[in-house]
Amino acid sequence: MNHSVSLKHLHTFGIAVTAKEYVAFSDEKMLQSLTPVSAPYLVLGGGSNLLFTKDYKGLILHNKIQGIDCVEEDEKSVLLRIGGGVVWHELVLWVLEKGYGGIENLSLIPGSVGAAPVQNIGAYGVEIKDVFDRLEAVHLQTGKIETFSKKACDFGYRDSVFKRQLKGQYCICRVWLRLSKKARINTSYGVINDVLAQADLPLTIQSVSKAVIQIRQRKLPDPATLGNSGSFFKNPIISLSKFSTLKLQFPDMPFYPVGDKSVKLAAGWIIDKLGWKGYRKGDAGVHRHQALVLVNYGNAKGMEIWNLAKAIQASVFDVFGVVLETEVNIL
Ligand code: EPU
Repeated sequence: MNHSVSLKHLHTFGIAVTAKEYVAFSDEKMLQSLTPVSAPYLVLGGGSNLLFTKDYKGLILHNKIQGIDCVEEDEKSVLLRIGGGVVWHELVLWVLEKGYGGIENLSLIPGSVGAAPVQNIGAYGVEIKDVFDRLEAVHLQTGKIETFSKKACDFGYRDSVFKRQLKGQYCICRVWLRLSKKARINTSYGVINDVLAQADLPLTIQSVSKAVIQIRQRKLPDPATLGNSGSFFKNPIISLSKFSTLKLQFPDMPFYPVGDKSVKLAAGWIIDKLGWKGYRKGDAGVHRHQALVLVNYGNAKGMEIWNLAKAIQASVFDVFGVVLETEVNIL
């Protein structure tokens, strides 16, 4: 166990904070030997969905479990077992090389495989739940390894049971994904087709991945050069009646129906409309190409980013009457 460890390079926002204690583990046994873990503690993967507003006064458990194994295969699909510490995009590249489809739309999402189910990562019309089979997690008090089916994970939009009832209780160690050998390409997100057509690329999983990478690189800052945690807020889901009123006021507002009673709004569009895009105060800012992404220009304090986030939430509530929830975990 290490003491007073800098977290600046262990999370994508790049905030200069320290953790009181830190331990990395590369298999379940190592993790089990640390149980019962005394609070406060935090399981860390790629650190791509966190904002530290102060030094962390507890123990960081850093998941470094590696390995991608094919555990079942038939003519249509493969079942992969993946270590929670595998970098998500490295998994995507590995499966593309083998020709397995299903997660090409999730190319270049920062973070680790173990963290991916917690918030049901999603992009360009696909979520991890679409290919998810099961996962194994260690209970951090009993040390027992437990299996969670897709149903038990209770996935929702950027949501799962691990963000709600079971928050903080488990560490996800292995994830099983079922991928397809026969490409079922999803270009429901129109901009993918536009990029493929412009570049005259064929409709393959590899080219869809290339298109997604291009779109992401155009809009989203690379955490290696500009600290950020992707979308800072969730896209808000509001009632149809509230939407009808807003639509009269903002006729060009993008929206996505959710069932027949609710509508999802584009938080990025709303924040942009309010003039925040490109805003900067000190080293805390709103990304100039995507208003949903808050950025650290170098030496921002976590509290500065958080104060900016709160100012954005207040202005959105003032004008749109909509509550913006954070997607990022605030610590
Ligand atoms: N928009 C603006 N101005 C902006 C940003 C967006 O007008 O500054 C408009 C866009 O033109 C578009 C709409 O808002 O009409 C939606 O924008 P975009 O397609 O960029 O997607 P998003 O809703 O902002 C979501 C996810 C992203 C994911 C993309 C693509 C959430 C919170 N975010 O963003 O996920 O990559 O869709 O599927 O659901 C993440 O979770 O970290 C993340 C980056």
